[in-house]
Amino acid sequence: MEIVVADNAGFCFGVERALEMVTRGEEPIDAPIYTLGPLIHNPQVVERLRRQGVRQVSSLDEVSGGTVVIPSHGVGPAVQRQARERGLRLLDATCPFVARAQDHARALAAEGYQVVILGDKGHPEVAGLVGAAGEQAVVIEHEDELAAVRVGARVGLVTQTTQATARLAAVAGALAERSRELRAFNTICAATTQRQESALRLAQQVEVMVVVGGKNSANTNRLRQLCEQTGVKTYHVETAAELDPRWFRNVGRVGVAAGASTPNWLIDEVVQALRGMGG
Ligand code: F3S
Repeated sequence: MEIVVADNAGFCFGVERALEMVTRGEEPIDAPIYTLGPLIHNPQVVERLRRQGVRQVSSLDEVSGGTVVIPSHGVGPAVQRQARERGLRLLDATCPFVARAQDHARALAAEGYQVVILGDKGHPEVAGLVGAAGEQAVVIEHEDELAAVRVGARVGLVTQTTQATARLAAVAGALAERSRELRAFNTICAATTQRQESALRLAQQVEVMVVVGGKNSANTNRLRQLCEQTGVKTYHVETAAELDPRWFRNVGRVGVAAGASTPNWLIDEVVQALRGMGG
């Protein structure tokens, strides 16, 4: 069995940067260190951080001192304000591309546009975008949901950084038909697009795809969806322990893709395990 790893797989710039800020930052960080939600959407990396003393909290109420790290996918301005009011030290690891999407959302709202956000409802990055645009912002996951939305004359569109370009194009097209003025920002980040294109290319050349990454990772889930849409049998695993040898019986070629929050050591472990299954 031949094993092919996607050209672009694993950690992106924003995730590497966030991890470095916390583990090898140039400035000393006041302990204890807390992250607001997972620092990145990969449970195995978060577990390693926990063993190094970095604790994950879901709310500022659980923090009484030390440093609070804003994760790579960002938080809304209200949370940042609250942290400052409580005198907590903030280490902002928000990815610059997420921050750029927030800036566009804020500016569109300030200029009077009805802000539409294409993103996964309930995802922290989308909550941060809503925080920037204001509570009247509309969040949709699919162009079909626009049928139930009252679309105004002037609409501004921003996108969660991990969305698929085809979905953005569909939503922008639907909004253009129903508004007088549409300002659409493509805030999908290049790392996302590259990983999606690599995974799609590979999925068309193999019999089975294995997508490695957190089950809570939006960009990894998107890779799984895109691979499945090509019709190839696709398995999403977080670790090598989840691989089942029966998936690869009589398979000549298997592809491995990984999300932007998946570390190389997890990809390597999966490849090693596949070799042990005849790769
Ligand atoms: Fe940033 Fe893109 Fe990664 S937005 S965190 S570089 S997936």
